[in-house]
Amino acid sequence: AQVTRELFNGAQIPVMGLGVWQVPEGRQCEQAVTWALEAGYRLIDTAQAYGNEASVGRAIRSSGIPREDIFLTTKFYPGRRDPLAEAEKSLRRLDTEYVDLYLIHWPQGGPTWAWSGMEKACEAGLAKAIGISNFGADELQELLEVSQIPPAVNQVLFSPFEYRRALVEAGDQAGVVTQAYSPLGTGRHLDDPVVGRIAEAVGRTPAQVLIRWAVQKGLSVIPKSTHRERIEANFAVFDFELDDDAVAALDSLDTTHRTADALGRGEKWWS
Ligand code: A2P
Repeated sequence: AQVTRELFNGAQIPVMGLGVWQVPEGRQCEQAVTWALEAGYRLIDTAQAYGNEASVGRAIRSSGIPREDIFLTTKFYPGRRDPLAEAEKSLRRLDTEYVDLYLIHWPQGGPTWAWSGMEKACEAGLAKAIGISNFGADELQELLEVSQIPPAVNQVLFSPFEYRRALVEAGDQAGVVTQAYSPLGTGRHLDDPVVGRIAEAVGRTPAQVLIRWAVQKGLSVIPKSTHRERIEANFAVFDFELDDDAVAALDSLDTTHRTADALGRGEKWWS
């Protein structure tokens, strides 16, 4: 059974998912999703900007797994105008009737302008839940003030090195599940000596330690890999635990506490 968290709409979002950022459309993407589903993943995270929705859709179709057993996320490309029209196109590419979650990919043009279109996509049944990505705490707050349907998820860059406590807290207070992308720092955090020492002590890989840390922080986590053995190993994080000392050592790796990021502000990374 999947370890899940409940969204405000009552749906369960799996804690562990596969992200396919930077996986090109075609065989490599299809294989990664196929291997993930075979390994037990039931959350797949794609985006219009990734250009690989059709591959994700093909892998889901050919898995034979009932659609309702899979939690599928895609993201509105904020350079486009109409979230509802873009959702329809995404669904055609994904070859599915709905997505479980439709996110604004980043708050380009401000945190609120696209939301009514997102709500329309939700009301039309194209998305079971809607949410945001790369929003800071102040942007989340601004959105909460105008939304009729609240955002279910905020998907952000998150790892021990980018440990935005205030952002997670702001989400928790508003009933917004925070989801971690690039929990391995796109691979850069795997060579860190502190992570390595903890991995050795618990008899796990550095990737498993970083993913488990985010799981223990209460987040949904979507590491990316295109290698079968890594996809399988990354999923195997529910049969061990990091103790308080290990968690504290990982917490101390945070580099954001010195910056505005600690408050979840000033994260205009897309400009
Ligand atoms: P690859 O796709 O070639 O397996 P993040 O999820 O933080 O963005 O990190 C993704 C990067 O980390 C990718 O370059 C991926 O490479 C690599 N990666 C993912 N899982 C593992 C793992 N278990 N061991 C080593 N590298 C990994």
